[in-house]
Amino acid sequence: LLSQIGPDAHLRMILRKPPSERTADDLEIIYEELLHIKALSHLSTTVKRELAGVLIFESHAKAGTVLFNQGEEGTSWYIILKGSVNVVIYGKGVVCTLHEGDDFGKLALVNDAPRAASIVLREDNCHFLRVDKEDFNRILRDVEANTVRLKEHGQDVLVLEKSLSSSRTSVQGSSSSHYKYNVMSGTPEKILEHLLEMMRLDSQFTESDSALDDFVLMHCVFIPNSQLCPVLIYHAQASQGSEQEKLDYTLNNKRRVIRLVMHWAAVHGDHLQEEDVSVVFLEEFFMAVSNDAKAFPALRDQLTELERIFVFFQMSVNLNCEPKIPTQHKVLLRHFSMGEEKLQKRQPIRSNDEILFKVYCCDHTYTTIRVPVAASVREVIGAVADKLGSAEDLLLVSLSSAGEKTIFKPNDVSVFSTLSINGRLFVCRRDQLDSLTPLPEQEGPSTGSLASFELMSSKDVAYHMTSYDWELFHCVHELELIYHTFGRQYVKKTTVNLDLFLRRFNEIQFWVITEMCLCPQLSKRVQLLKKFIKIAAHCKEYRNLNAFFAIIMGLSNPAVCRLSQTWEKLPSKFKKFYVEFENLMDPSRNHRAYRLTVAKLEPPIIPFMPLLIKDMTFTHEGNKTFIDSLVNFEKMRMIANTVKIVRYCRSQRFSPESPLPSKNHPDVWTYIRQLNVIDNQRMLTQLSHGLEPRRS
Ligand code: CMP
Repeated sequence: LLSQIGPDAHLRMILRKPPSERTADDLEIIYEELLHIKALSHLSTTVKRELAGVLIFESHAKAGTVLFNQGEEGTSWYIILKGSVNVVIYGKGVVCTLHEGDDFGKLALVNDAPRAASIVLREDNCHFLRVDKEDFNRILRDVEANTVRLKEHGQDVLVLEKSLSSSRTSVQGSSSSHYKYNVMSGTPEKILEHLLEMMRLDSQFTESDSALDDFVLMHCVFIPNSQLCPVLIYHAQASQGSEQEKLDYTLNNKRRVIRLVMHWAAVHGDHLQEEDVSVVFLEEFFMAVSNDAKAFPALRDQLTELERIFVFFQMSVNLNCEPKIPTQHKVLLRHFSMGEEKLQKRQPIRSNDEILFKVYCCDHTYTTIRVPVAASVREVIGAVADKLGSAEDLLLVSLSSAGEKTIFKPNDVSVFSTLSINGRLFVCRRDQLDSLTPLPEQEGPSTGSLASFELMSSKDVAYHMTSYDWELFHCVHELELIYHTFGRQYVKKTTVNLDLFLRRFNEIQFWVITEMCLCPQLSKRVQLLKKFIKIAAHCKEYRNLNAFFAIIMGLSNPAVCRLSQTWEKLPSKFKKFYVEFENLMDPSRNHRAYRLTVAKLEPPIIPFMPLLIKDMTFTHEGNKTFIDSLVNFEKMRMIANTVKIVRYCRSQRFSPESPLPSKNHPDVWTYIRQLNVIDNQRMLTQLSHGLEPRRS
């Protein structure tokens, strides 16, 4: 009999037996067969032997038979023994064909997600091996291939890799860990499609939503809004299944896209209004959902939410274009203050706000120009040339107090906020470059502010510093972190709020050094040193690690730490604090001391920002954005994780009780916001030598 029907038929017969009826011989025969199957070649002997006990033979006679539909729950994994199938995606049609030896259908099982595609027989009489969900999860889930590459039209479109996920919490509250496929790289459209499919509508937040959040935060570097809006597949229709199934699919798809769009609008916030494509898109999207809500009552809740965002959005858009209302753009003064700041809360600076700025010439005369914050260097030069009535080729140069020059490139944008603390903007012809000299005012103060500073309590100072830092930190948009990391000129966006916050770090640092070096009397200098250590301690208590680091770094600057007579007189209690603080700054093992400390803190926290910036820059420079023309999503996730640290730090408002203002004290608020510093290291070192000459 065996010779008549052939080994294939015999095998089929065995594979059709219910697993419980398979004999040891049967299992041996199946096992032998499994050794030749490509889709299983990476599995161990033990796993293959286990599989021999559970694999089921399935065959279908007719081309066009649907094995399963996109959107359905996954129940099995398949290997093709004979024949071929088409992978079909709604709205796209056949995206690829799978042949003998290929497998399909494990994504839904491993990720607990709906089927990403329908599988349709491409020819008559196809044979499959099938592993059902329970067996798959028991035997294969954690050993299955590490990498899955999905193809469309012969090209890789999505690369997934298995990694341990542990956030799934069972009913009892204990968390179990198992493997899941995460996006490693892909085309922007396929990544989006995949993440949307993985979205859980029934729960508030899941891991896949976190990947979607990464996408929303990072997409500006691989697919700008102008390209993203058109690919949001709100109108996708199911083409297979029963009427009810089609309806379910359509509705679920819509709900997912709405949720994504709302999240997108929330993350981008004000920034959306600066782009016409986004405004038009939101308008059209809102209309589409309003229409659909008439047919699908299930959409009404979401529509209400969407409406709230939209009405708010539209109001501000209208304000901006209404010609009768004076423009809403703020006019910022130099150093980006708005004059009457004390009365109103600081608002984030937008790229179309205007700034008044002095630009100097070689002879130290200046012109004041008024341009948008996002103005390019070319535009700034144009505005200056206009005012000067000059037709010469001019360069825009930043000049530091030490005389260092940086020539800006015509395409640089928003250069105002990148100047050093006492840096100024100059214009000149190329042949005048060598004759540029800093203005006298760039040198900074010649006497310290001890007289008034002495009267302020350390806690007051720390409080006002922290509340100012919070204002600056609060204004930084999450996207600015990304623009900064990838290069503002590359994304053509300003990072002005972030620049100002980072600049404040340097300002505090130089303030500490300046005050120390401008304090001629030894005993006063010791008092000052004590005071700075106290302020640092209070900043740390306020969880303002940024200012804390700036102060300690100021004190460890060579110009200050060489003042040995001063340090010798510092009481040992303060020395101990200082040593402890310095240890926190120890950069070894990737700033381990600091990272451990900050990990224990609860928000609100002002993190040591330069370190977060460094982390992102490292990730950016060490990893390509595209791999084989696919977006390196793993890199996006790493950078987004740092952004999420910032989000966490700001997730609570800073609102400690402000120390009671006492009438005799000088105005700490104003003092803290107008620090007057020397930012020339050579000069500071000279001053320091003047105070305590080198001992022979
Ligand atoms: P799953 O989502 O479980 O069900 C459909 C299967 O089609 C999917 O797992 C993959 O194994 C397979 N497949 C092959 N190519 C693609 C593709 N380009 N997009 C989605 N699924 C694909």
